[in-house]
Amino acid sequence: MCGIVAYLGEKEAQPLLLEGLRRLEYRGYDSSGMAVLNGTGLHLLKKVGRIQALSALAEQTPLHGNLGISHTRWATHGEPSDRNAHPHVDATGKLALVHNGVIENYNSLKKRLISEGHTFTSDTDTEVLAHLVGDHFVKLPAGTTSRLERAVIAALREVQGTYGIAVVHQDEPGILVGARRGSPLVLGIGTGEHFLASDVSAIVAYTQKVVYLNDYDVVTIDRNAFRVSSLTKRSAGFEISDIDFQQADAEKGDFPHYMLKEIFEQPQAIQNAIRGRLSHEEATAVLGGLNLSPQELRDVDRILITGCGTALHAGMVGEHLIESIAQIPVEVDFASEFRYRNCPLDRRTLVFVVSQSGETADTLGALREARRKGFRVLGICNNVGSTIARESDGGVYMHAGPEIGVAATKSFTSQVTIFALLALLFGRMRHLSASQGRQIIEDIEKLPAQIEKILGQTERIKTIAAKYCQAHSMLFFGRLLQYGIALEGALKLKEITYINASGYPAAELKHGIIALIDKNTPSIFICPQDSVHEKNMSTLQEIKARKGPVIALATEGDTTVESIADDVIWLPKASDYTLPVLSSIPLQLLSYYTATALNRDVDKPRNLAKSVTVE
Ligand code: AGP
Repeated sequence: MCGIVAYLGEKEAQPLLLEGLRRLEYRGYDSSGMAVLNGTGLHLLKKVGRIQALSALAEQTPLHGNLGISHTRWATHGEPSDRNAHPHVDATGKLALVHNGVIENYNSLKKRLISEGHTFTSDTDTEVLAHLVGDHFVKLPAGTTSRLERAVIAALREVQGTYGIAVVHQDEPGILVGARRGSPLVLGIGTGEHFLASDVSAIVAYTQKVVYLNDYDVVTIDRNAFRVSSLTKRSAGFEISDIDFQQADAEKGDFPHYMLKEIFEQPQAIQNAIRGRLSHEEATAVLGGLNLSPQELRDVDRILITGCGTALHAGMVGEHLIESIAQIPVEVDFASEFRYRNCPLDRRTLVFVVSQSGETADTLGALREARRKGFRVLGICNNVGSTIARESDGGVYMHAGPEIGVAATKSFTSQVTIFALLALLFGRMRHLSASQGRQIIEDIEKLPAQIEKILGQTERIKTIAAKYCQAHSMLFFGRLLQYGIALEGALKLKEITYINASGYPAAELKHGIIALIDKNTPSIFICPQDSVHEKNMSTLQEIKARKGPVIALATEGDTTVESIADDVIWLPKASDYTLPVLSSIPLQLLSYYTATALNRDVDKPRNLAKSVTVE
């Protein structure tokens, strides 16, 4: 949600900033801009629209200089426009600032600044912050430390809300200041150069060494050195980490879209999720990162899973897995609700927060609320070093590799697989026998090859997508473990095709949804040969009796489904526990090919951003 890239070094800043913004475009893409400092002062370019529009402008009027800040925006305050695009400048026009987050008290700060003679040209909260820092800058005396750093610290002490910022000032041409609270910011350390970025994918081409800044950190950078101070503590510590992937992992390669590439990466992603985590000997899962002793694992008598969007759907599948395999009661809650709901939790409740990015504001809020109440919180994250990963008491990394497509795909199936591992582990601490445990391990280990097999049906799925792509709405049905998959299938379709879609537990059809069935409303029915197969057949018949077209996801060789449904996508024979991973894949492909048939911008759907770092 908004992306920041800043550079200070010996090279020309503009090309590095534009390249970094291109890599962060998934975080927001309604407008972008940059400010570059050189011997003649501060120079700005801003443009509404995609990064491409800014690039075109930069080609006509290039900015030269070795220090620059840049931003790609996902609008919060003020419509997408040139005037609301970042960077914003202060009253003197000498300071420029880019910002990711929301300044909650911007109205009162703005009123005060207006009463002191400031005038504003945009509708944004960020411009207020730029003026506030600039105001402190002009009032502060020169000193032995950077005046810009001191101005940033003084301004941020007045601010309520969230921010990741990068700031430059014409009067301190060799200094770049960054700060964060609630929005991610990473410092990249090169040789004779430094970077700031919202996420490492923007800078991985130039350095593998980074510092993941903490909330309330302020970093002051010159070409050869940096200093991290804290708004709340006397001194701030930092750790230099290595980025855990190469630039090539974040490239599209020969695929037309990141989403398709990431769908096809799932055999590998699942392999990464299970590598070294299954013990045949003990017939259990080995998840050392949980930081729980056997006694603590044994003592858990309730689990709460929270997250947003796709991550929440993975949690819903996780609920079924843990309850059926380990017999521990599980509750799943929207992170955005949990953080304000003040729900009673049992003392021995273990909380899982699920997040691909590890930066989702609502999920982070839920994590902090649960920890504040004294609960043990474990994270299931993909981004190493992300805020959620760092603030959790322990957890499980997905190791799915960078996910750039706004629509989550491989992170979802990795999350579901990790829940299967957790269910196995908790189950083996309780009643699950070694032979049952071994059976689950065997089933999990089959997943990569089974996914490959499903991917082999891509052409068939593409044809089905073309047949139904003009529908105005679609219904997704599944029961038990497949209900979460139905919800996820519907979300995927909505996100990238803009077709109205909803997911239901199949038996709910007769309780109202059946009124929506007609010949123009396709139903996507997940009905593999599982424990509720027969029940599903009756529901399938009820849809067909009302002339509703049905695309079924069925177990290969299921002639009953074949004889009822209009189109069938085949799933390999698998256990109830691993089927949810398998049934996700055709739904992702169905959404993808429906979107491409409709000429949608698959990797950057309208109004969305990959990482939602505001409430
Ligand atoms: C999924 O396709 C969506 N982009 C969205 O629902 C996403 O899953 C949600 O915002 C949570 O993101 P996270 O996993 O990074 O926390």
